[in-house]
Amino acid sequence: MTEVAEVAESPIYPFSRDMRCPFAPPSAMSGLRRDDPISRVRLWDGTPAWLVTRYDDVRTLLADPRLSSDVSKPGYPHLGAGVGAAQKTFRTFLNMDDPEHARHRRMLTRAFMVKRIEALRPRIQEHADAAVEELASRPQPADLVAAVALPVTSNMIAELLGVPYEDHEFFQERTVVLGSGSADVEESLRASEEVQDFFRTLVEHKRTHPGPDVISHLNSLQDDGEITLTETLNTLRLLLAAGHDTTASMIALGTLALLQHPDQLAWLMADPGARAAGAVEELLRYLTISHFGRRRIATADIEIAGRVIRAGEGVIAANDSANRDADAFPDPDVLDLGRDARHHLTFGFGTHQCLGQPLARVELQVVYPTLFRRFPDLRAAEPLDALRFKQTSVFYGLHDLPVTW
Ligand code: HEM
Repeated sequence: MTEVAEVAESPIYPFSRDMRCPFAPPSAMSGLRRDDPISRVRLWDGTPAWLVTRYDDVRTLLADPRLSSDVSKPGYPHLGAGVGAAQKTFRTFLNMDDPEHARHRRMLTRAFMVKRIEALRPRIQEHADAAVEELASRPQPADLVAAVALPVTSNMIAELLGVPYEDHEFFQERTVVLGSGSADVEESLRASEEVQDFFRTLVEHKRTHPGPDVISHLNSLQDDGEITLTETLNTLRLLLAAGHDTTASMIALGTLALLQHPDQLAWLMADPGARAAGAVEELLRYLTISHFGRRRIATADIEIAGRVIRAGEGVIAANDSANRDADAFPDPDVLDLGRDARHHLTFGFGTHQCLGQPLARVELQVVYPTLFRRFPDLRAAEPLDALRFKQTSVFYGLHDLPVTW
């Protein structure tokens, strides 16, 4: 087959999931991993891209500096029209390459380092305790996303950044639009501008009311000429969005997965102090909420596993598929909270690996045990096929999770 014909006949990515197995990646992935691990796909707008599905290849490519994260390069594999347009209007270090990326990321590493986040564990516990009591006070069935998942994660990221929690509805709603693969251009650009204005006001306010928070830290870096105002605003909106919606999705989806696997839940709750950290890694692997792959564009020809990715071609490193590769995780479709899953790729790999992973980890390690200790008889109030999964969002999860106890 000629290359042109190969592209024209290639399947459209993202593939749909089989919602009878809402925790599994699309079933097409396992066939590709076996037969065509670096394959041709087309995106929503016809743009061709390479889809990489095996664990070793995904890791190799994500560590390769010849792959760029620059969304403004022609041929970059955007998830959708709205996401693409919004990403182009605000440039963050998520979409920069080294050394520029590293310079920006370094400004924030202290705020999110493991030691600092560990010190916040008691505070995270306070928010988790308050959230489960809030859930208990609601009439049944109550929505776990609104009562627990979003409040814990939004409170924590708001405190770290110096954003008033009272504004949570505003920023949660805009984050949903900006992370939606199906939002249109106009809607995304409007949300983008509103968030920019929100932070402009806040950054100005913090100049006269500084605190031990990230906004004040970035303000002082601005004074030293290290970062511009626009870069500050862009960084803050990345942190606020990435810092709550992601882990909230993981709280809700992880809770549902535990409810669907009562033996695993019982194992976890028999000794959460010793088991929660490992269990969280396995839930992260099994659910891979960062489900649309890490997207890159090649800046030079790259030979890998018998294929040549040409300069200018888009690459989707499918970390959801990699996390189900039997060569990296025996019996990959089994949720086994006792396994060592720490090498999963849910937080990405390489230079862009998630900056907020220490925070996400501690939040999850605290929330699941707190929730199931308080509600040992927690149940989903709807069957699986009636639940609303976030299928087109950048991060997979649930729009809401009605529960009873
Ligand atoms: C379960 C929760 C989370 C998941 C699954 C997740 C996933 C990811 C992934 C896959 C990447 C890599 C993107 C790429 O390779 O292109 C990433 C990057 C990033 N994440 Fe997270 N994330 C989570 C929570 C958080 C939290 C709580 C924060 C807090 C601020 C955060 C901040 C960031 C930032 C700033 C980056 C960009 C890093 C860079 O480009 O150097 N994330 N995240």
